[in-house]
Amino acid sequence: MPRVLVRTTGCQMNVHDSEKIVNLLLHRGWSRARELEQADLLVINTCSIREKAEHHLYSDLGQLREWKAGGADRVLAVGGCVAQQEGDALLRRFPHLDFVFGTHSLRWVPALADAAREGRRAVRVAELRSLDRFDWPERHPDFPDATPGRAFLTVMEGCDLFCSFCIVPRTRGREISRPAEGILSEARSLVAGGVRELTLLGQTVNAYGRHDRRREQSRRSRGADPGANTTIGFADLLRALAGIPGLRRIRYTSPHPVFYDAALVRAHAELEALCPHVHLPAQSGSNSVLARMRRRYTREEYLVIAEALRAARPELVLTSDLIVGFPGETDRDFHETLSLVRDAGFVDSFSFKYSPRPGTPATDLPDAVAPALAQERLEELQTLQRAQTLAYHRSRIGHRTQVLVTGPSRRGGRQLSGRDPAHRVVNFEAPEGALLAPGTLHGVDVVAASPHSLIGTLAGSPPVRSTEPVGGWVPIEGALP
Ligand code: 5AD
Ligand code: SF4
Repeated sequence: MPRVLVRTTGCQMNVHDSEKIVNLLLHRGWSRARELEQADLLVINTCSIREKAEHHLYSDLGQLREWKAGGADRVLAVGGCVAQQEGDALLRRFPHLDFVFGTHSLRWVPALADAAREGRRAVRVAELRSLDRFDWPERHPDFPDATPGRAFLTVMEGCDLFCSFCIVPRTRGREISRPAEGILSEARSLVAGGVRELTLLGQTVNAYGRHDRRREQSRRSRGADPGANTTIGFADLLRALAGIPGLRRIRYTSPHPVFYDAALVRAHAELEALCPHVHLPAQSGSNSVLARMRRRYTREEYLVIAEALRAARPELVLTSDLIVGFPGETDRDFHETLSLVRDAGFVDSFSFKYSPRPGTPATDLPDAVAPALAQERLEELQTLQRAQTLAYHRSRIGHRTQVLVTGPSRRGGRQLSGRDPAHRVVNFEAPEGALLAPGTLHGVDVVAASPHSLIGTLAGSPPVRSTEPVGGWVPIEGALP
């Protein structure tokens, strides 16, 4: 049995694509390699969102020359966003590379691997519009379930918004929504297999179904047969998923502010299973930067959505993505981003220095921000965010939360780790003899907080105080009964 190893960088969509590739290969008689030396096929699933990620790939490929030379049957492949973007330029640049496949070509990996084993090099990067790209075989019995109890579920792919800094519409192609029936049946089968938490994936996930709806409306208004619409509204999709018995948590990522409507806000108020956490990329707090980014909303509009979501679900946690050093960003613009972090009350955020991407309109904008200044701004933003994250974590001390166990804590000992409904990492000590399998849900009382996580004790168990001083923890002051 040939063995495959997949290395992944980038977003959750990439992580899920890698799962799909492995699952497909398992169905075709492959097995998994645990390490590079065992692998007959190495697939690198790449990200090109920022320049750094791309550079990593090139240095990795250089280093893999030796591995490739170590066995005549070894096959090296590159997939994902860099593959989509670079296509056969990659094959030309790296003679030891066997095949390149784009973001729409995952299903050809087994065939491309077979061809490579017969000495044929190939590139497959065509963009596909057909809906069967969403059809995948069920999880193979040997599927490596890296996240027991949790699963990703693709609901739409691609992006039609073309923010001026972003390469994604060029690497993931046009927006396309998966038929609701396929989503629901995959969800049911995942839940039957023990999944308790689903994360719906899409580049602009809450745009789900919008093109189909618009097409249907325009046909109706012309008096034409509206035809069959395979999708439903995003809020209706959430509602249908929430009705699946045994499914305890639903998340979605990443939404775009312009696709929030009253129905989606209401879903947050009404659906218990919909987690009280939204990761809503803001990118900037300055209206002039947002306009140059072509984000299609203002700071004020963003804040209206944030407030509406919190009014719908008071405990809702908002997190975000932010970019500093976008061309023309002044000190004043940057301070507006800082104040947005405060005003929107972000509990966490990913922040990045602007990285020019080839072929995107922002590369032509004047007034580049000096790298040292962008770095300074990044650090200032991250310092503010850390303080705000810690303040939120501290506010959770004394509350009970529910944790989906992901595995042993990185801190070792008897500590386990998991995620609460707000997606915060919770570490807690398991009492001796407790059976808390990954993928199961447990009540945990929060007793302390660090900037990175909450620490708690299993609800209902005698309180267990960590005996070792753990770096970075906030002292537990009177939080224990
Ligand atoms: N430079 C820096 N950050 C970027 N992102 C997307 N494109 C760029 C870029 N060119 C960030 C955005 C996005 C996240 C996934 O990556 O914040 O939300
Ligand atoms: Fe990129 Fe903007 Fe589309 Fe998000 S919405 S994937 S940032 S173009």
